[in-house]
Amino acid sequence: MPRFSGHFCYALRMKLTPKEQWQKERDKAPSRNLCTCYDVPKETMMDAIEAGADTVEKITAKTYGCQDAQCCKRQVERLIDIYQSIEKC
Ligand code: FES
Repeated sequence: MPRFSGHFCYALRMKLTPKEQWQKERDKAPSRNLCTCYDVPKETMMDAIEAGADTVEKITAKTYGCQDAQCCKRQVERLIDIYQSIEKC
């Protein structure tokens, strides 16, 4: 399998629509814990976002993930950004 530079991979990612990017995130290891501190899988976080949680605080309230240390905060914010860009399209 060929190895691509970070820039090339970034360019490939940029060709995806937000909806395709969201689906890609859904398909990529959905049962993996996004929040390892509180054992919350990525699919649970994504379900919460689809159910209307549009801030990290709302996702914390729905899933109990991303509390206190908030080490997964950037990943959660990234998912929120992707989903919100679907709504804008
Ligand atoms: S990984 Fe989510 S709070 Fe630490």
